[in-house]
Formats: sequence, structure tokens, C-alpha cells
Amino acid sequence: MKRLDYIASLLKGYDIALDIGSDHGYVLKKALDLGYINKGIASEIAPGPLENAKTNLKNYPVTFYLSDGFDKINEKFDIAIISGMGVYTIIDILNRAPKCEYILQPNDKHEVLRKYLMENGYIITEEHITFDKFYYIIIKVKPGNENLSEEDIFLGPKLRLNKNAKDYYKLKYDQLSKILLVCDNETKKNITKQINYLKKEI
Ligand SMILES: C[S@@+](CC[C@H](N)C(=O)[O-])C[C@H]1O[C@@H](n2cnc3c(N)ncnc32)[C@H](O)[C@@H]1O
Repeated sequence: MKRLDYIASLLKGYDIALDIGSDHGYVLKKALDLGYINKGIASEIAPGPLENAKTNLKNYPVTFYLSDGFDKINEKFDIAIISGMGVYTIIDILNRAPKCEYILQPNDKHEVLRKYLMENGYIITEEHITFDKFYYIIIKVKPGNENLSEEDIFLGPKLRLNKNAKDYYKLKYDQLSKILLVCDNETKKNITKQINYLKKEI
């Protein structure tokens, strides 16, 4: 399934969804068109994308904010989405965000986000994978505490239970095996550990 359609499908059953970094507004549009949610809130740091969202969502029950993350948001919502960004941008937004349910889709370094979530009072409730030219992992979280092993942080505590992740793990295994041939000794130790985690899943 297409990445943005998949994210929209995870909004089913929520009343109000807030999309941080909404860009074109596609996720809210899809979720509203399909009746998954009743109202949307779009937050964008950049004026151009916010204007695009306003055009695409004209006459939809959506409110728009030019805002850095949650800074200007003073409305109630039931779930927030932060997707399609680098992991450090997502963490920067979460550092200044309320504790609530989130749908998170970092473009890279999922293990960095999982460790952050564990250390900052979130439980990973679902992990999904979809292929849309590349593999994308979507992580759903809620406030709470959990302890994850290093292996779980790397593989994903829920993703490793998902049979659709096997091909993704295999691809990662192949990529890391190639890197292992050319990296320095310090990196080698870490990559060997990761390859061993992946080996058990494929
Ligand atoms: C690559 S786009 C991803 C758009 C969409 N969320 C998706 O998944 O396709 C990232 C968007 O996030 C916006 N953005 C980046 N940092 C932000 C922040 N701190 N607060 C609000 N929006 C932000 C950018 O302006 C850009 O439109």
C-alpha cells in the first residue's frame, strides 16, 4: 500500500487527528474522504506547503496553523502524526510536544527513535511495514513505560512479530553484510551485532 494511504488507514476510529508537517495535507484528506476521522488539524512550519494544504483541503473540516511543531496548537486532538521526516527532526518535535498517542514514520534510523521513545515515556503499541518504492516503517505509540532489549530496539518489538517484515530484514542483512567488508574495526563490532540480530529473523 502507498505510504500515505497506510498512515491514513491507521487513523480509523479517531475523532480528531493532528498532522504535524502536513505538507500537501494528503493524509488528512484521505482520512476525511474515507470517513476515518471527523476533523483534522494541519500544522506546518513552512508557508508554501501550508498554502498547498489549504488548497487541497478547501471546505474540509480542517484548521490550519503555521507552527513549529506544536508551538501554536491550542486545540484538542485525539492522535498526532509526524511522518516523512528524518529521525532527529521528529525527536526535536517530540521534545517540545504533549504526551499523547502518535503515529510516527521516520525516514531513517528507526532504532534511534525507539530508544528515544523508551527513554521518554512511550510504549510502542504497533509497528507496520509497507513497500512504496522503498520500505517504510510506521510506529504507533502511546504514553507509558516499557523496557526494550537492544535487539528489540534494533529490530522493532512489534515489527519482528510481523511476517511482512522478513524481506525488509533480509534486505538490511544484505546491505549491512556489504558494509561490513569495508568499515573500520569499531563500526565492525556494532554491525556484526546487528547482522546477528537480523540473521535470526530471516
Ligand atoms: C518531507 S515532508 C513530509 C510531509 C508528510 N508529513 C509526509 O509524510 O509525506 C516534511 C514536512 O514537514 C515540515 N516540517 C519540518 N519540520 C517541521 C516542524 N518543526 N513543524 C512543522 N512542520 C515541519 C516541512 O516543512 C515539510 O513540509
